[in-house]
Amino acid sequence: MDMAGLEKELREAFYWFHEHPELSYEEVKTTEKIREILTAHGIEILPYDLETGLAAIIRGEKEGPVQALRCDIDALPIVEETELSYCSKAPGKMHACGHDMHITAGIGCAVLLQENRSSLRGTVKMIFQPAEETSLGALKILETDIMEDVENIWGFHADPTNAAGTIAIREGYVTAAVDRFVITVKGVGCHGAHPDNGIDPVPAAAAVILALQSIVGRNVNAFHPSLLSVTKISAGTTWNVIPAEAVMEGTVRTMEREDRILYEKRLRGIAENTARAYGAEAEVEWIAGPPATCNDREMAEFTRKLAEEKGFQTAVEESSLGGDDFAFYEERIPGCYMKIGTGIGHPIHHPGFAVEPEVLLPAAEFLNACLTAYAERTVGRNGIKTERARESSV
Ligand code: NI
Repeated sequence: MDMAGLEKELREAFYWFHEHPELSYEEVKTTEKIREILTAHGIEILPYDLETGLAAIIRGEKEGPVQALRCDIDALPIVEETELSYCSKAPGKMHACGHDMHITAGIGCAVLLQENRSSLRGTVKMIFQPAEETSLGALKILETDIMEDVENIWGFHADPTNAAGTIAIREGYVTAAVDRFVITVKGVGCHGAHPDNGIDPVPAAAAVILALQSIVGRNVNAFHPSLLSVTKISAGTTWNVIPAEAVMEGTVRTMEREDRILYEKRLRGIAENTARAYGAEAEVEWIAGPPATCNDREMAEFTRKLAEEKGFQTAVEESSLGGDDFAFYEERIPGCYMKIGTGIGHPIHHPGFAVEPEVLLPAAEFLNACLTAYAERTVGRNGIKTERARESSV
């Protein structure tokens, strides 16, 4: 394999993806470009009829497991403020979350796997997933049967808190379950000067907002990270009319499954009963998003050791109450979601966020190493590992 040639190709692809950001579910040109590059390398595209995004497959010539690598492909509605020569050509859109790097490293990994398929054990499915930023794109993939035979899955994210090429890993929970709620407090509208003629939903809503904060302090195990934020409130149309209703929206972030259930139950109880105490009524809508991302301990440990063996800097991955829809896959399939340092700089989702392109080839090589080496220690298609395979590959 001509590594200098591959590096050049990856850089050019990365510049193209960065210049052509597309928002969630609109990744049409992005999908076409991925298809074009993979096809040019002789990589088989799976025949799934996804509107955007695609799945490809590399079939190793030795028996082994079915694995997957998830690369998300969408951009954000942000006006780019970098000085890069390859900055966004789409006004108001930007690859500010590094998904351009995810696409490119994923392509690089696919090319390396394809080149080495005579020694590759098992099969690797490459998932170029749409709409991660909506938290729901993973469900589009899971609606198909692409993942049905997959025994383990890998995912990664650009990380501007670490030097380019640093591999950050954590066992267990990495990102939070992301749920959304809407509370409508219903009263009775009336003249602003005659509150006695109605039921004012505004003080009832204020009481609900304050009482909700007691869930984190009084109901949840103090050793479990979680939070509740009311992020939007609206009521009324003018200064001298008491409105008929007040609407609040917000988000709950939890790591533990039991806390997620607890929050929903307490939130409903507090909203309904507090509103009732004011003579009003509360309607609660709970909109569940992805669960928490939880890394398989064995895969995380394997990845950390492999990174050290291959000479990468390693770090402990910071856990966050942000979310990633990669969690939907990990809910069904053992997985490892790592962070790959892209050079210290502006945080993700910032208009100045930038990836150091030096990271592209090492990231592709490391992902290839994870998939290749992990397959070596897994024998058969049912995920059963033998001690012999385990010993010989560590
Ligand atoms: Ni992202």
